[in-house]
Amino acid sequence: MKMLPIDKRYVWPAAGLERVPDWAYTSQEIYDREVERIFHGPTWNYVGLDAEVPDAGDFVRSYVGPTPVVMVRDEEGEINVFENRCSHRAAEFCRELRGNTDEFVCPYHQWSYDLKGNLSGVPFRRGVNGEGGMGPDFRPENHGVKKLHVTRHNGAVFASFSDAVEPLEDYLGEEMLSDFEAVFSGRKLRVLGHYRHTLSGNWKLYPENLKDPYHATLLHTFLVTFGLLVAGNKSAMIVDPKGRHSTMASAKSDGTAVSEENKAEMRAYRDGLALADPRLMDFIPEFDSPWSVTMQVVWPGLIVQREMNTLGVRQIVPNGPNEFTMVWTMFGYEDDDEEMTRHRLRQGNLMGPAGFLGLEDNEAIKFVQDGMLNSTGGEHLVVLDPKVPAGTSNTLISEAAIRAMYKHWRQEMGL
Ligand code: FES
Ligand SMILES: [Fe+2]
Repeated sequence: MKMLPIDKRYVWPAAGLERVPDWAYTSQEIYDREVERIFHGPTWNYVGLDAEVPDAGDFVRSYVGPTPVVMVRDEEGEINVFENRCSHRAAEFCRELRGNTDEFVCPYHQWSYDLKGNLSGVPFRRGVNGEGGMGPDFRPENHGVKKLHVTRHNGAVFASFSDAVEPLEDYLGEEMLSDFEAVFSGRKLRVLGHYRHTLSGNWKLYPENLKDPYHATLLHTFLVTFGLLVAGNKSAMIVDPKGRHSTMASAKSDGTAVSEENKAEMRAYRDGLALADPRLMDFIPEFDSPWSVTMQVVWPGLIVQREMNTLGVRQIVPNGPNEFTMVWTMFGYEDDDEEMTRHRLRQGNLMGPAGFLGLEDNEAIKFVQDGMLNSTGGEHLVVLDPKVPAGTSNTLISEAAIRAMYKHWRQEMGL
């Protein structure tokens, strides 16, 4: 029996971008196509920071989409990214999360690779006593591991499988680049630590959560009560012209600006709550930006977090349609004094995956995936702010950025 083509089997709802079908989040076939067309397609994928690999031989295990890669600094000071897949029998050969080495040796049959990913050694290549081993036509130079394109911008390292990907500056575009450079300004970074956790949901729900300022004013008691993101504050949901990247931005208020009318809409609002340690909420201005908080999505898998003085990147590692891992790297700047580093760490607890915000998003994402997997509804409503069909909106009560993301996604996916 001839199978219908994919775009006949997965038909987008007739209502257009105001609906997103469940299959976009739950289908293995759609997920496989995302890996091929998006993560392995003409995109720049964040893999790590320069500051994580300061010396020759320093490496970190990373990912491009679900695909394991190694990021390593070589003897010439260049950063190389190659697949963490042995060219012999496909073993994921690099086992440490990070470290320093002068070569990578696969644990299975000990083939070895240099810091550029070239095959440098094959045990018993000539066999034993003239028997066995590799044939005479075996050329090690043809059996290095797969190398990716690499680009760096002020301390952030990106990789791509595609020969066709545009330069990073064009990929981001002017407006997104300027938000990116508020954090990656050229000041040298100092890594403060990592978090890693796994969520029971489709990977796209994470960027969507950061393109959904509506939830921020409702789900997060903390944000609302302490004036970080309140309906009525100066804020914006900015989307790049292609719809793929975005910045959710807000300026901190002193908490007194919440109108009675808005309070009544927000069940999360709690009058009269105060922090025992008010330093948690101090914002020390240090950025070339009108915003005290920017959460930027660099499509497809990077979130640049600047929540007051908490800085970090979150990398999305999908594990199939129904699960993904988040890898967080928190940092400050090399010229921070001791007090500033303490301040970033303190605030980082508040903003981290077990703090007063991340936990709630993680739960909400699971609830959404559970809803799709366990009930038959078929599609989601993405209708808020109809005056902006898709793109930048000046109100928080909007889903125009999610519509923009699916506009781009549909183009890339051919669906
Ligand atoms: S699988 Fe790596 S050496 Fe055999
Ligand atoms: Fe949130």
